[in-house]
Amino acid sequence: MIYVLIPEREKAKIRTKNKVQTKKYSIPDNLKELGLGKTYYIKTYGCQMNVHDSENIKAILEEMSFKEVDEMEKADLILLNTCAIRENAHNKVFGMIGRIKHMKEERPNIIAGICGCMAQEEGVVEEILNKYKWLDFVFGTHNIHELPLVLEKSMNSKKLEVQVYSCEGDIIEDIPVKRDSKYKAWVNIMYGCDKFCTYCIVPYTRGKQRSRNPKDIIREVEKLKKDGYKEVTLLGQNVNAYGKDLEISYDMSNLLIDVAKTGIDRVRFVTSHPWDFTDEMIEVISKYDNVMPYIHLPLQSGSNRILKLMGRRYTKESYLELFHKIKNRVKDVAITTDIIVGFPGETEADFNDTLDVVNECKYDSAFTFIFSPREGTPASKMKDNISLKEKEERLYKLNELVNMYAKEANGGYLNRVVKVLLEDKSLKDGFNFIGYTDTMKLVNVKAPLDKLGKIVDVKITNVQSFSMDGEMVE
Ligand code: SAH
Ligand code: SF4
Ligand code: F3S
Repeated sequence: MIYVLIPEREKAKIRTKNKVQTKKYSIPDNLKELGLGKTYYIKTYGCQMNVHDSENIKAILEEMSFKEVDEMEKADLILLNTCAIRENAHNKVFGMIGRIKHMKEERPNIIAGICGCMAQEEGVVEEILNKYKWLDFVFGTHNIHELPLVLEKSMNSKKLEVQVYSCEGDIIEDIPVKRDSKYKAWVNIMYGCDKFCTYCIVPYTRGKQRSRNPKDIIREVEKLKKDGYKEVTLLGQNVNAYGKDLEISYDMSNLLIDVAKTGIDRVRFVTSHPWDFTDEMIEVISKYDNVMPYIHLPLQSGSNRILKLMGRRYTKESYLELFHKIKNRVKDVAITTDIIVGFPGETEADFNDTLDVVNECKYDSAFTFIFSPREGTPASKMKDNISLKEKEERLYKLNELVNMYAKEANGGYLNRVVKVLLEDKSLKDGFNFIGYTDTMKLVNVKAPLDKLGKIVDVKITNVQSFSMDGEMVE
């Protein structure tokens, strides 16, 4: 091993008032042919932010002359872009590392590495250094732009190269991007998170909250529009807190207005933390037709006691007040949520409070999870006396309820005509396209083949809990 820089949890949680640096990406000329004649494959785990990071990584690799292949077995370079949010995400990655080991035994020239949120975890990197020394490289979420240098070192030394920074992070502009879709695009508006919810690993793996300069965001959206993109999704762990760390007075409602004014057909954003949701934002969403009436508003728990232990900074009552305000002001809005069951010490009464909120909000859909202790987070040290069996029963009960309301919400679309962006082929017999409604409902659509990439009117002919079917109408 020639150089090791490993992550440190104590450093990763430090937050200072130091100014965030905006830097520009560049790749040294001598590395542009490092991958000549070689292929790569990236497997991406986790949230949209990771998906978008992989789009950047792909473009960087292609600048280095690597070519993408769609099967891991055919690749010379394998990269796992990992997620650390729950234990099962971890297990999947270690399972995959095992598979790569076998491949490397047969083809020793394969170069394999990991990046993403797990790479930012002290415990994970220690495990890699102890048990998986045969891997070639590890880099973190803060130095994606340094991938060419990390790869060069690893390829030259033929030894494990670990370079992970535990820092608050900078903003790197002009990283190239190879987008998965020609019609819809992810646009980062901020990085990191300062909320430190007690169960969550993200503030440790992604650094402090850093908002991108509005001009850079608008420029990116304008270019996307010019290139024919129909939809942008503004990305951040807490998009509603956008701008709070900028030196100018400019917030998420200002940004939404400016993005809407570019005239791009559809504007979406995730994730909205209920704490920072302002009335101005609600006004903007209801006023601009191209800001989509779809909001992901994570609840996590309906119990005030548990919300406090989670450090969520809102109560059941204030959440419900916000929920109804949005429902009342934004026409036909769809609202989805995230819920955690089995947080340490969650009683039956606490769980019932969560069910009460679900019964009141009747979400369009919800992502539900069993609490997973993450190393180094405050909640992982809280006393937890609920059995896994009990937690699984709660999850099952919650899912039954959530699915019932999802189906009910979809039911309201039957025979209606709605706008759908036809974005890909459908795998369902009798349908050519899949696409999403303004409200983010997945629809299998029958439409003429030349309509791919267009927003068309679709009459809904059939609904299920998780998708619907429809036919294009002229
Ligand atoms: N920034 C977003 C959440 C991002 S993580 C927000 O604050 O709402 C996505 C979801 O994963 C969370 O909303 C939460 O429901 C879930 N999650 C995060 N940490 C978890 C943990 N330790 N155990 C179980 N679920 C977790
Ligand atoms: Fe995690 Fe909370 Fe930040 Fe969301 S707001 S990323 S749940 S710490
Ligand atoms: Fe996972 Fe990191 Fe996203 S932990 S959910 S990939 S920010």
